[in-house]
Amino acid sequence: MSRVQNVVIESVRTVLGWVPERWLPGGSPDPLITRRGAVGRQVSRLDGALKVRGQARFAAEVPMEGLCYAALVHSPITRGRISSLDTSAAEAASGVVLAMTHRNMPRLGSLPLISVTNMSAAGASALPIMQDAEIGYNGQVLALVLAETQEQADHAASLIRIDYEAAPARTHFEDAKATARTPASILVEKNHVVVGDPQRELAQAAWRVDNVYRTPGHNHNAIELHAVTLAWEGDTLTIHDATQMIASSANAVARLFGLKKENVRVFSPYVGGGFGGKGLWDHQIVAIAAARLAGRPVRLALSRDGVYRMIGGRTPTEQRVAVAADAAGNLTALVHTGHSVMPPYAAAPEQYTLTARALYRSKSYEFVQHHLDLDIVPNTFMRAPGESVGSFAVESAIDELAHEMGIDPIELRLRNEPDRHPISGTPFSQRALVQAYRDGAARFGWERRAKTPRARRDGEWLIGMGCATGSFPYARMPGASVGIRLTREGTATVSCSAQDMGMATSTVQIQHAADRLGLPMEAISFEMGDSALPAAPMAGGSAQTVSIAAAIAAAAEKLTGELLRLAGNSSPLAGLRAGEVRLVDRALTSIEDSSRTESIRAIMSRASRDEVAVTASGSPPLELLKFAMHSHSANFCEVRVSEVTGEIRVTRLLGAFDCGAILNPNTATSQFKGGMIMGIGLALTEETLFDERSGRIMNATLADYHIPSHLDVPDIEVIWTGIPDPRSPLGARGIGEIGITGVAAAIANAVFNATGKRVRDLPITLDKLL
Ligand code: MOS
Repeated sequence: MSRVQNVVIESVRTVLGWVPERWLPGGSPDPLITRRGAVGRQVSRLDGALKVRGQARFAAEVPMEGLCYAALVHSPITRGRISSLDTSAAEAASGVVLAMTHRNMPRLGSLPLISVTNMSAAGASALPIMQDAEIGYNGQVLALVLAETQEQADHAASLIRIDYEAAPARTHFEDAKATARTPASILVEKNHVVVGDPQRELAQAAWRVDNVYRTPGHNHNAIELHAVTLAWEGDTLTIHDATQMIASSANAVARLFGLKKENVRVFSPYVGGGFGGKGLWDHQIVAIAAARLAGRPVRLALSRDGVYRMIGGRTPTEQRVAVAADAAGNLTALVHTGHSVMPPYAAAPEQYTLTARALYRSKSYEFVQHHLDLDIVPNTFMRAPGESVGSFAVESAIDELAHEMGIDPIELRLRNEPDRHPISGTPFSQRALVQAYRDGAARFGWERRAKTPRARRDGEWLIGMGCATGSFPYARMPGASVGIRLTREGTATVSCSAQDMGMATSTVQIQHAADRLGLPMEAISFEMGDSALPAAPMAGGSAQTVSIAAAIAAAAEKLTGELLRLAGNSSPLAGLRAGEVRLVDRALTSIEDSSRTESIRAIMSRASRDEVAVTASGSPPLELLKFAMHSHSANFCEVRVSEVTGEIRVTRLLGAFDCGAILNPNTATSQFKGGMIMGIGLALTEETLFDERSGRIMNATLADYHIPSHLDVPDIEVIWTGIPDPRSPLGARGIGEIGITGVAAAIANAVFNATGKRVRDLPITLDKLL
């Protein structure tokens, strides 16, 4: 995003401020907010049985005739070049089909980086992929071997001899600060924002905290490893991928290989976890190129180590948060600044200062982020990028201020609850964080929290409670389209290239379509996971559900218009317009006068039609520029910390969510819980250990990189306000990423309440408490 785009977005916001609400999408609330049937029901995942029986076929399982298997060679040096290369031993090894290096890799341009302003871009890295002898980071792919079996490929890859000429590399976080970049924008927000005079307010304040918080890098650990199975047939390419971005991947691959868009087809019906990591990376590109050179279908499944080496994760951050308050506890300054790593060839700015902008009323503010260039695998989006680690810093600081002032941390938050967006001044579409806190505190038993640290114990175990706010912006992606085919019998097929990484995309959209089309759920099928279908946006930014929902709403309206046209003048519906009728019980009925109705069967029979098919796109998502729209949460945590060993146990965790209408309590609960479990990892165990001397990740295995295990996870309780957002399709906001947000701070605050020790450096390991 450039300065020009900043100006454009701000101007659009200003103009939208004058536009009457009813002219905007969401201006008149979605009628389905109040008319509920299948939506809101506790439906189990419709593809659950397939998955449990092993019948859901993932990318690495797709059978193909004549398939060969790929293995990769990763750079062991961080920066420099290949000085000599010998693939002869590999080529002579048994079963080898092809050895590919920069010497025989086809010449390609670079991938356009995924961005908020280019919905058809998908690349996670702009570095050339196996195009020359240059090496930009430790782990970069330098060679690929294809063989008849995976074992033969793995062995042959180990026989490739490469000599290197190493060059000095930038690997030190601290040193890189001297040449930090300060971008104009962070995603679509202006980066450096100053309101009032925060320096003066901090200097004059009755109360103030001013500290630095550090979070380490994190790697993606989806259970399904990144994998592709693909084949060329002439100039057409079929790719079975594990991806969060089907349509944009197909686009990007077509452009990169100079193919017609319709000649690249990406399938990805099931994805075993994504969290931002399942984008378009080097492995798909080298596999596609190798398949072309070999004239054979190819399977490439990364090893766990491979994922660490060449798929980026969350960048480390160093954040300063300064908060000041007057004697009455009203905030007078909120400053959040910091450094994170983002090489210029990466796409994800780790927007850690965005979260605080929507949280508190204050007399003054300052926000700014600086990017450090290191020679590393390009970092990328990882569940609640920015918000997850930004909320750790800000919500720890608020807790510290409350402690200094001797007031309850919930009380301090409630006193500073804003009534409009604190920075832009736009009204909130719906915000009931206060209610989330009240409900959560009552349910959790917050009144049992000791006001002073170290006041509760059970033998050697110190017991503490903490809380923290989470906030995650609502988004709806432009350009989502869906097709609906309605038959005379009253069955419908809804289709778009949507992705499901486990969150029950098809289940929830079938619930939605049932209500929108007035059909039972059993009468609806949902086709997805295929780039040949109408294009859905990527599954990201917790935005897929409403993005597709808006497209289904538009298609249903178009379908209604089409049915009215077919009904013609002899129908009881004659003269009515699309907005004046609705589909209920396999009939089209006037909203005003339910006696004016005609069945779908009757309408289609008279018109001699077996089916009606439409395709439509969702309206432009202007609501998110006119209103401040965020999912909110109040997180509550209880910990026990051993005074003898420093061992930390999260004994209770409760999330009180305010995320609009909940479309499916069953699948929403697992989204929230999954995020909260990742929050436990963020707080206590997860850390990519990066060797600043070698530029190499030292713990590239699940044995050494600790994600929470079952024993680390207590019973988690999830509640929600369920208040529909009047500005969004179905009244819903995102629920994918809010779960992790605020959890690390709630845990850190609970640890402080238990022990009196404030850890500002994640993860909170036992050595930091002794
Ligand atoms: Mo997400 S980090 O938008 O998958």
